[in-house]
Amino acid sequence: MERTFVMVKPDGVQRGLVGEIIARFERRGYKLVGLKLFTMPTALAETHYGEHRNKAFFKGLVDFITSGPVAAMVWEGKNVVAAAREMLGATDPQKALPGTIRGTYGIDIGRNVAHGSDSEASAVREIGIFFEEAELLSYNRAIDTWIYE
Ligand code: RTP
Ligand code: MG
Repeated sequence: MERTFVMVKPDGVQRGLVGEIIARFERRGYKLVGLKLFTMPTALAETHYGEHRNKAFFKGLVDFITSGPVAAMVWEGKNVVAAAREMLGATDPQKALPGTIRGTYGIDIGRNVAHGSDSEASAVREIGIFFEEAELLSYNRAIDTWIYE
């Protein structure tokens, strides 16, 4: 089963959207295997967003993502990396489809509520920098036979 890294950003936490975002993944059928609320240190933010190091928005992005608590989580299930990106919607909420998380709750690109890994390789990398192996749980759900055929 695939795993992905999803994070409610400081704007989503401040706006009381943690439960809403968790609920969307739960209702879809994905399994929560890791969860923590914390404020990201600058070094971790710079590592997480390292691919954007040379972009004009990098400093603002790091300042924003470290500005308050984030809810970091790992979701598990079939095709969950791509599914989470679809559930989030386009990076710019103005372009995100209605019904997606960003298309429902966001307006500005720098306040787009939540993050999701953009590939299986990114998911492995991001899960590794945000979670210790012991913080990721393996457990069975009785309901799985009603979610997977
Ligand atoms: P994320 O990593 O946060 O899930 O977002 P994403 O993959 O959809 O987009 P990405 O290209 O990785 O950009 C990371 C975050 O940087 C901010 N951004 N600002 N001003 C700009 O042109 C610009 N472009 C990107 C966004 O907040 C985006 O989520
Ligand atoms: Mg990204």
